[in-house]
Amino acid sequence: MITIAITGGIGTGKTYVSAIFQREGIPVFNADTEAKKLYARPEVLAQLRQAFGDAIFDGSQLSFAKLTQVIFNDKEALGKVNGIVHPLVSQEFAKWAKEQNAAMVIMESAIIFEGGLEKQFDYVITVDASLATRQRRLRIRDAHLDDATIRRKIEAQLPQDEKCRLADFVIRHDHDNEEEFLQQQVNKIIQYIKNREMHNSAIEVLLNHRSIRQFTDQPIEHDKLDLILRAACNGSTMGNMQLYSIIAIQDKQRMAEMAPLHFNQPIATNAPLMLIFCADTHRFNKYCQYRQADTDAYSNLQSYQWAVTDSIIAAQNACVAAESLGLGICWLGTITYNCDRFAEILQLPENVFPTACISIGYPAETPELTDKLPVEAMIHHEVYEDYTEERINDLYREKEAHPNTLKLLEENQLDNLAQIFTQRRYTKADNEHFAQVLIETLKNQKFM
Ligand SMILES: Cc1cc2nc3c(=O)[nH]c(=O)nc-3n(C[C@H](O)[C@H](O)[C@H](O)COP(=O)(O)O)c2cc1C
Repeated sequence: MITIAITGGIGTGKTYVSAIFQREGIPVFNADTEAKKLYARPEVLAQLRQAFGDAIFDGSQLSFAKLTQVIFNDKEALGKVNGIVHPLVSQEFAKWAKEQNAAMVIMESAIIFEGGLEKQFDYVITVDASLATRQRRLRIRDAHLDDATIRRKIEAQLPQDEKCRLADFVIRHDHDNEEEFLQQQVNKIIQYIKNREMHNSAIEVLLNHRSIRQFTDQPIEHDKLDLILRAACNGSTMGNMQLYSIIAIQDKQRMAEMAPLHFNQPIATNAPLMLIFCADTHRFNKYCQYRQADTDAYSNLQSYQWAVTDSIIAAQNACVAAESLGLGICWLGTITYNCDRFAEILQLPENVFPTACISIGYPAETPELTDKLPVEAMIHHEVYEDYTEERINDLYREKEAHPNTLKLLEENQLDNLAQIFTQRRYTKADNEHFAQVLIETLKNQKFM
């Protein structure tokens, strides 16, 4: 049985989200409700009386108001209460979970991380909403709450950023009436968890991929590099011709010389290793030449296309191998922008063309997984199904709502993510300029 915790600060909407999971057939145990029931048990009352004396009782009755008062400003007191209640809640959850006869069960609790309970679960989901949204929801929920009290309640909990960082998944719930968006996020998590059952180490490496842009100074061991290169060279390849070459660069001076061609991105110099992959029909042409076969059968655009495919397969194999060995990687697309200058500096002969450049090293950062489109966005069945405006809206909704996107919009003072791409990142004018460089270099390298 897979156990999942749903948490989130007050007002984030975790109960609403839990209800969606419940609708999908996953039973939900509400820890806060269950904990309240525990306070009626004589053994719990006895332990509380032992810990706090009569101060939290009205005669024989526990006073929640007094208990709340005691623990609100006193971390030690809160720890004591948690020490009494948490183990019992966990026991109750375990008992309840057994009775559910379900493949997955959920505990909803506001204090998963505060109570150190996260290790008891296979997955933790944090429900997140902006501070303003949470304040608005709390005001609606309880009209008596003034702003200062709301702020104190929110501040008494672990900050949302931290809850998001520690979670396996984050569900964003910023707006009301966003049922479909929530459903989409819930479905994605359920599907991921179901698939997770089939995971093996190869799948783990692929699903954990994220680009690394900061590296430690630790050099890459010779044996590791050897293994990475072997993995790179064992991919599928057109006609088993292996139409690619790999140039390994470890000389920092050479990296520094090439840095301007990478527009001085820090990853152009801060990794101990850079692998440059080239589409290469030169070697095979030479082989043919020395064996009295056609000497230039592979000096054309069709052969270039094969060689590009081969080189990218090799590059991706190298990336996966490197990541499986604990290294981090980042591609540098700038190699294709300035392909003419790289061909010169790397002394590439005819029929060799740089296609990929990858910085590799031990990670000095652990970034979150990069936000991606839902997988359905890229999948078609039988034939290509063109995208309607409505579908585009659906598919890009999560990405557009992502905090990284909102930050970018603010920084760039633009209206949407698409404009960031066309007006800042990859403009039409730049693309057309580099397309011209590409055509000229393909001609120089005798692929055209
Ligand atoms: C062809 C290609 C070129 C890229 N060029 C750069 C680059 O020049 N600089 C950079 O920081 N990241 C570069 N990247 C990394 C992408 O930005 C990154 O893969 C993408 O944002 C998805 O993030 P992820 O790799 O963390 O999943 C490149 C990736 C590819 C495949």
